Amino acid sequence: MATIRLGDKAPDFTADSSVGTINFYDYLGDGWGILFSHPADFTPVCTTELGTAAKFKDEFDKRNVKMLALSVDGASSHNEWIKDINEVQNTTVNFPIIADENKKVSDLYDMIHPNADNNLTVRSVFIIAPDKTVKLIITYPASTGRNFYELLRVIDSLQLTAYHKVATPANWKQGESVVVSPAISTEDAKEMFKKGVEEVKPYLRMTPDPTA
Ligand code: BEZ
Repeated sequence: MATIRLGDKAPDFTADSSVGTINFYDYLGDGWGILFSHPADFTPVCTTELGTAAKFKDEFDKRNVKMLALSVDGASSHNEWIKDINEVQNTTVNFPIIADENKKVSDLYDMIHPNADNNLTVRSVFIIAPDKTVKLIITYPASTGRNFYELLRVIDSLQLTAYHKVATPANWKQGESVVVSPAISTEDAKEMFKKGVEEVKPYLRMTPDPTA
């Protein structure tokens, strides 16, 4: 098991899932991906997370992001659990859940942190760009459910900064002003960003969201 860091190629794998065998790269195609792990089936926080993820699928689709969950139980267990999730969360789970009984994918992505728990995964999140590089890693403990608004927010930032020479400030949300990349001079920035550039400090230049 190798540590995965930002900028690394996301390891490919083929694994069983709630919808049959899945090859990760084939599943992602040429879009973005989010891979997120759950400690175990039939657990309360995971039940709320997967229901929430299902309700957010339209938002991930809009951003061309394919969702893939993982838990270290088997496919038949996943499918029984999905019935509960659909019932109690009033939704339909609409993305696959990897059945990682042999912990192959969990090990590949370093999702088991033995000092937290020897057998269950933590709540890992990996966001993967179309070129299959890892763009974001977040690790939550089992006791803390994820904030899916934050995951969408960070995807908006990743996609904006992938295609424009900007960075996003603290608490930024789509449509708000962004920071001009430090690599660009203010003079060049004024040419590049026709909506205007405000030089707050020579190293802090703001411009309206170029996509808004
Ligand atoms: C849960 O998903 O509710 C959970 C799983 C493992 C430990 C604690 C909570």
